[in-house]
Amino acid sequence: MQKSPWENKCFAEESLANIDEKFLPATERQVDWLIQKMGLRPGDALLDLGCGAGRHAIAMARRGLRVTGIDISETMLRHAKERAEAEGVNVQLVQADLAGLSELKLGIFRGAICLCESGIGVLGGAGRDFAFLQQVHALLAPGACFVITCFNALRRYILSRGQNPRFDYINGVMRWSCELDGEELREDQRQYTPSEIKLLLSLTGLEDIDVLSCADGDFSDEPMGIEDVEMLVIARRCL
Ligand SMILES: C[S@@+](CC[C@H](N)C(=O)[O-])C[C@H]1O[C@@H](n2cnc3c(N)ncnc32)[C@H](O)[C@@H]1O
Repeated sequence: MQKSPWENKCFAEESLANIDEKFLPATERQVDWLIQKMGLRPGDALLDLGCGAGRHAIAMARRGLRVTGIDISETMLRHAKERAEAEGVNVQLVQADLAGLSELKLGIFRGAICLCESGIGVLGGAGRDFAFLQQVHALLAPGACFVITCFNALRRYILSRGQNPRFDYINGVMRWSCELDGEELREDQRQYTPSEIKLLLSLTGLEDIDVLSCADGDFSDEPMGIEDVEMLVIARRCL
């Protein structure tokens, strides 16, 4: 199994600076939308899958949720711990690969989020993504919501029209590699169309699946636009 680029300290630090600049400002609005849409209440247990430096996890904890943040990157988790301490909130942080969540207690979480390409697509192929979704389903309490943001492959198909050598359009995989800090980093990222992601989620037993717009970081109840960069997907475990 290929190593995640996020395990490289230099990559994680550079990416975090980018996330802070581009995405941090919209976080509080996103969290308000999530709490309302997912029906979360103070005291509920929430999973933040691929929590990074904890921008959603910390904002959720500040609103009274009991948050468990999971991430593969030691660097991102160190920042999350420092930021949570600076805000005086408690977030349980766990270093783990999302491809193996079996240690967690099943059926107790009132919600789960996996935002900003933090799980789906980067776990090593559709089979692993499906196994991950099955695990998330098992961790959720009946009626609990799961929210994902991930790349919209339709845009990639439209823009590349089969001409982008980094986009394997037959398999829906975007490949990139670079050298950083003397290490060769690479990622094969599976990008999904809305109907593919709906199929995967429904095969795990999740229902009420909507593919919504998160253009410019604004989470909304509008359907995703065909050329949007990302999609916002919400699904519910049946009662
Ligand atoms: C683009 S960042 C987003 C972080 C956070 N969700 C946010 O919105 O700020 C992607 C995160 O996913 C984590 N990640 C990537 N692959 C992972 C894996 N296999 N298991 C756990 N975490 C992973 C990375 O370490 C990184 O913190």
